[in-house]
Amino acid sequence: MSRILGQQAGRRHSRTVLRALAAREAPEVLDHASDFPVVLCKADGARVRDADGNRYIDLTSFFGVATVGHRHPAVFDALRVQSGRLLHAMGDVHPADVKARFLREIGRRLPADDYRAVLSLNGSDAVETALKFAAAATGKAGVIAFEGSYHGLSAGALEVTHLPAFRTPFASMLSGRGRFAPWPAADGADAAAVLDAVRSAARADGPFPVGAVIIEPIQGRGGIRVPPPGFLSDLATLCAAEGLILVFDEVYTGVGRTGAFLRCQAETVVPDAICLGKSLGGGVPVSGCWMRPRLADAVARAGVEAVHTSTFLGHPLGCAAGLGVLKALDHGHLLKKAALVEAAVRTHADRWREATGCVRDVRGAGGLMGVELQAPGGGPGGELAGRVVARALKTGVILLTEGPAGDVLAFTPPLSIPPRDLDQALALVGRALTEETAIP
Ligand SMILES: Cc1ncc(COP(=O)(O)O)c(C=O)c1O
Repeated sequence: MSRILGQQAGRRHSRTVLRALAAREAPEVLDHASDFPVVLCKADGARVRDADGNRYIDLTSFFGVATVGHRHPAVFDALRVQSGRLLHAMGDVHPADVKARFLREIGRRLPADDYRAVLSLNGSDAVETALKFAAAATGKAGVIAFEGSYHGLSAGALEVTHLPAFRTPFASMLSGRGRFAPWPAADGADAAAVLDAVRSAARADGPFPVGAVIIEPIQGRGGIRVPPPGFLSDLATLCAAEGLILVFDEVYTGVGRTGAFLRCQAETVVPDAICLGKSLGGGVPVSGCWMRPRLADAVARAGVEAVHTSTFLGHPLGCAAGLGVLKALDHGHLLKKAALVEAAVRTHADRWREATGCVRDVRGAGGLMGVELQAPGGGPGGELAGRVVARALKTGVILLTEGPAGDVLAFTPPLSIPPRDLDQALALVGRALTEETAIP
C-alpha cells in the first residue's frame, strides 16, 4: 500500500460498500450513486485511510468533531479505562461517577460558575434543551434566530434553523415560532439596524410571543460568517434590557475550535445558555446545554421523574471521552495552535487569490476558517468549490464546503495537525483550485 497521499489504490472497496449501503439505506442519507464518497476505515490525528488503503489529510475534523485530532491518545485511554468499568449508567436515576468529574472540569472552563448542565448526545439535543427551558422560564415559545443559521434538524431545532434546504421538506410541521433577523454585515455597517430588527421582532404581537434569542457566535454551516466586533455584546445588552434569554449555540465554535475554549469568552459575553456538542467528546457522541439558574431552575422534576431526559443522558463513555478531550486541549496547548491554522489558511488563500482571481473573501477565526470562491470572471462560486473539493479528495485532502450556495471552502482541521501536513494539504487545495480554474 502506498504511503503517498491520494487515491492511487483506486476506489473498488469504497464502491462496493456504497453499493451495499444503497440497497439498505434511505436514499436521502448519502449520495450513494455518485463517485465522490470514500468509505473511511482509520484515522489518527489528522491522517485518514479509506477502505482501499488510500491516504488523506483531513481538513474537516469530520464535521468539526476531531478538534483534538482523531483517536487522540488521551481520549482513547479514557475510553479504554471507562469501558473496562462501566459502559452505561442511569443518568437521571443512578448516574455514573464520571459524569460528576466531567461536569466539574467543564464547569471550571465556563464564563460563570453558576451554569448547570443537561447532557445529551447531539448538537440538536442541546439546542432542544435550551429552547424548552427558555419557553418554560419565560412562558413564551417564540425565538429569534438569524438568517443563515443552522441549529440542527430535530423538530424544535429546525424551527430556528434558517437554511431553506433543510426546512422545505418539513414545512408542514413548522409552527412559525422561529423568527429570523438579518445576519449583520462583517463591517458592522448595518449592525444597529439588525439590533433594531431584533428589538422590533421581540416586541411584535403574534401567535408566539418571543422569549429568547439564539445565535451562533460565528455561523458555521451558513458559510463561516463572523459578526462585526462588538455585535454580540450589544446583542447581550439588548437581550438583558428586553428580558430575553440569550442562547449561544457553540456546537461548532466551542471546545477550542476558534482559539478560546468558548467563543463567548473571546467576545466577553456571558450567555444565559451555552450549547456544546461536536468536539466535546472527541469523536464520541456527547453534547450538553449549560444554563444559568434563571433557566436551569425553570423546570422541576415531576415527582420521581426527570421531565427532560433521555436513556443515554450522561453516558459514561461520552463523559470519559470529554475528560480526555479537555486533557488533550490542555496538554497539547491546542487553543494556541488555532492561531497557526488561521495564519496558514490566510497565507495560502492570499496566494490563491493572486494566482486565480477566484477568492472572493477569507474569514473566520482560529480553526474555523472559510474561503469564499467566485467563478472566473466573478460569477457564483458554488460549482467551482464543489469541483475543488472533489479534486482535492483525489489528491489526498478531505475538504468540505459550507454556505447555502456551497461556495465557501471550509477549513476546520484538527488543531493538533502538524504544520507540515497543514501546509501540504493547503498546497494541494491550491493546486486543485488552480487546475479547476484553468479548465475553460
Ligand atoms: C451551530 C450548530 N448547532 C447545532 C448543530 C447540530 O448538531 P448535530 O448535527 O450534532 O445535531 C450543528 C451541526 O452542524 C451546528 O453547526
